[in-house]
Amino acid sequence: MNGVASAVRHVEEQALKNVRIHEGDARDVVDWLPDACLDRAFIMFPDPWHKARHNKRRLIQPEFVRELARVMKPGAALRFATDWADYAEWTTERVLADPNFRFADDAADRNAIPADHVTTRYEEKKLGDCAPVFLDFVRA
Ligand SMILES: C[S@@+](CC[C@H](N)C(=O)[O-])C[C@H]1O[C@@H](n2cnc3c(N)ncnc32)[C@H](O)[C@@H]1O
Repeated sequence: MNGVASAVRHVEEQALKNVRIHEGDARDVVDWLPDACLDRAFIMFPDPWHKARHNKRRLIQPEFVRELARVMKPGAALRFATDWADYAEWTTERVLADPNFRFADDAADRNAIPADHVTTRYEEKKLGDCAPVFLDFVRA
């Protein structure tokens, strides 16, 4: 609720007209979207669930990756960021296991901060076990 309230305040202060907020499960929003409608998607520092017995709670699961592939346009970009090394590996495996995704051509240095990156609140807390990793994928 605090995050939603803060987002609404920023939208109002900057008089933004192109923002929509869903207070609920982001996976539902993706499910509701039509095929091939997104140019970009950002998954920034999702909950790490780093204990092995909690891994199954992670957002990145094969079904969700499949849904992302459905709603993203051909050539669309997907960025995933985390500061948990194991989640970076987990995501790389699962996204590349989907034949619709590949690494972006300029994705070689995973620790380089992308030019268009905006630092997030969670990132600032540095709670992970590694420097932030940025994985840029392309929807084929
Ligand atoms: C670790 S925080 C990161 C927040 C923000 N992206 C940042 O970097 O500062 C993860 C956030 O995702 C939210 N969250 C977890 N699962 C979600 C889901 N399925 N749909 C929408 N939000 C979710 C949590 O409530 C939490 O606020």
